[in-house]
Amino acid sequence: MKQTTRRNFIGKSAIAGIATFIALPALGGLLESFDTAIDTNQSPLKTGFGQQPLPYAYNALEPNIDAMTMDIHFNKHAAAYSKNVKEAAAAEGVDTTKPLEDVLAKVSKYTPKMRNNAGGHYNHELFWKLLSADTNTAPNAKLLAAINTSFGSIDEFKKQFTTAATSRFGSGWAWLIITTDKKLSIASTPNQDNPLMDIAEAKGFPLMGLDVWEHAYYLKYQNRRADYIAAFWKVLNWNTVNDRYNSI
Ligand SMILES: [Fe+2]
Repeated sequence: MKQTTRRNFIGKSAIAGIATFIALPALGGLLESFDTAIDTNQSPLKTGFGQQPLPYAYNALEPNIDAMTMDIHFNKHAAAYSKNVKEAAAAEGVDTTKPLEDVLAKVSKYTPKMRNNAGGHYNHELFWKLLSADTNTAPNAKLLAAINTSFGSIDEFKKQFTTAATSRFGSGWAWLIITTDKKLSIASTPNQDNPLMDIAEAKGFPLMGLDVWEHAYYLKYQNRRADYIAAFWKVLNWNTVNDRYNSI
């Protein structure tokens, strides 16, 4: 991507982010539909049905995640989830001016097309924000304390999360979530399901998620999912995880 184009891209993204921040607090609690124990009324973290611009260049995460993978992942796979969830919404009478989270909370009432694509769209919109060219971000003191309480240490947390991501059979996601009793927990989901869905085995608010579909890593890592997961830790944007934890 040319520098000027990239600057435009990032500029538009920043404007969209500011607009979202201003518009979303009025929309109510993020998790209120599945549990009122977590007060997220102040959370700006709502998801629409369209794709937000990728907040960095396709090659920004090299060599950990390659440019071609990012390009195809964003413009083909993720774009298709957005297109398809909008189609499903039109067919199933869903108001797309409302947050996508409202659909996820009662996804069992909709078609498999809605489930797959609402999940796919939400998961990817979150995933892009969880990656960064800045390889020096870290959990803040509050999050680190919670991780130490729940897992014993940051290294033990990473080990358990890595195990969840490695052992997810087939396609799916690994998650760090806050459960409804406000505990940190690691979970994984098949396909494009996520912990906000009413059908999820482990429900909660996702602080971070890792895409372990082969489309996320196969061009560079082929069958070596473990190497991709190791690379993910290097480009994980802990600032996003901190912000999400602070929002709860
Ligand atoms: Fe993906």
